[in-house]
Amino acid sequence: MTQRDIAIIGAGLSGLTLALALHKQSIPCTVYESRSASLDIGGAVMLSPNALRILDSLGIYEKVKPEGFHFRDLHFRTNVPLDSYEFGNREKYGYDGLRIFRYKLIDALLIATKERGIQIEYGKKFVKILNETETDVSWDFEDGTTGQAACLIGADGIHSRVRKYLYPDLEPKFTNAVGVNAAVPTAQLNLPDSFEIPVTIMNPKHGAFIIAPQLADGSEVFIGKQKRAPELDREGWAALLNDKQWCVDFFRQGAEDFPEVVQNAVSKIELDRISIWPFYVVPKLENWTSKHSRVVILGDAAHAIPPTAGQGINQAFEDVYTFAVIFHRCKPQELQRGLKIWQRGRQKRVNRILELNARIDARRFPRLPGAEKSEVESKPFDLDWLYRPDFDQMAETWLEQAVQA
Ligand SMILES: Cc1cc2nc3c(=O)[nH]c(=O)nc-3n(C[C@H](O)[C@H](O)[C@H](O)COP(=O)(O)OP(=O)(O)OC[C@H]3O[C@@H](n4cnc5c(N)ncnc54)[C@H](O)[C@@H]3O)c2cc1C
Ligand SMILES: *[C@@H]1O[C@H](CO)[C@@H](O)[C@H](O)[C@H]1NC(C)=O
Ligand SMILES: *[C@@H]1O[C@H](CO)[C@@H](O)[C@H](O)[C@H]1NC(C)=O
Repeated sequence: MTQRDIAIIGAGLSGLTLALALHKQSIPCTVYESRSASLDIGGAVMLSPNALRILDSLGIYEKVKPEGFHFRDLHFRTNVPLDSYEFGNREKYGYDGLRIFRYKLIDALLIATKERGIQIEYGKKFVKILNETETDVSWDFEDGTTGQAACLIGADGIHSRVRKYLYPDLEPKFTNAVGVNAAVPTAQLNLPDSFEIPVTIMNPKHGAFIIAPQLADGSEVFIGKQKRAPELDREGWAALLNDKQWCVDFFRQGAEDFPEVVQNAVSKIELDRISIWPFYVVPKLENWTSKHSRVVILGDAAHAIPPTAGQGINQAFEDVYTFAVIFHRCKPQELQRGLKIWQRGRQKRVNRILELNARIDARRFPRLPGAEKSEVESKPFDLDWLYRPDFDQMAETWLEQAVQA
């Protein structure tokens, strides 16, 4: 162990990207993952310019760029088009939105960690913190071994075990909404020329139906339907996922009330492409760091947010990149203060995402026929603050402002 080495719990998107961001700042780290491979859930993800700029500076964007589907706007409609929301724009922000399979992104991150000689240990499940001092931290793995490092980072997802050290009783909160997802060939939809995708189609009775192209040539679409639902336990969700006929019925329920494209989409669904995503959130937390700042949480572990603005993963990339910059800039005795500044800066942006989610929800809620758009509905989204920043600069500004304050 050196004075600066970091242990990362979780080799998901947050953990792997954090490892690369730390390496860029010449900070040594080791990644520990409980499974035999990184978690690959939910098919594809959408990356916006803020995240793509970070992946670009870590040498990942060029690798994944040819592997995904590029697009600019997310559309909203009922039986008629309503509105759109920008998810990327090469001219304005440097990048179009990119929809890419999670495993492709993970593969690219794994190749990069290997090239840089970053160690990843699989089958190492973090269980609990043993001891935190002013200079280091030690912990137990499930296999009976212990670990020690200058800092332990919980990048272990929404059900974080590391978070238990900071919040022993906290459980993620169910939002009473669930999404059922699948993938079908785009040709099956018989899309009219005027029907723009990716799109969210709202129906007051049946909830929202989402269609989003994927694969580099857009030849496949993700289909997803969201609906209110009562909470189930882990086994309950697993049982529902295994009940493929329930999932197909769920997709088809009320299809006749949606545009014909939706009826075509659900006419034939491969059962092994179906997944369920119950929406859980982590309530706003006062501390992402422990008393001596030797234990830190980030990504979904710190702030799992609803998927409305599609920022879940994108915000995790902002966390890890700015963390690495601030950790690099702080001397050991400044770490505690530095990480508080980091958390404050990051929480402000997460709060703005939550406000954005609420604004999008307000627009998505279908109006009665003939009703005027309310003021908040017709005001265009200003997304410069979200998509434009340079994150090295942002972290520096946080530190400067803290000095002046
Ligand atoms: C079905 C589904 C679809 C989704 N689609 C999208 C999307 O389209 N866009 C989007 O932005 N977000 C999406 N999300 C949310 C997104 O998955 C998360 O925001 C993102 O995965 C968070 O990354 P993470 O690295 O913080 O956590 P995770 O991806 O959960 O990774 C955590 C890692 O830590 C490991 N781990 C956990 N506990 C331990 C332990 N005790 N010891 C060691 N390792 C451990 C896990 O095995 C895993 O590899 C989706 C989520 C689900 C469930
Ligand atoms: C934690 O570490 C400190 C400093 O090394 C030591 O004095 C203390 O006994 C340790 N506590 C436990 C519970 O191991
Ligand atoms: C957050 O950390 C501070 C300082 O260590 C502590 O006083 C406070 O109780 C913590 N808050 C919670 C909710 O744990």
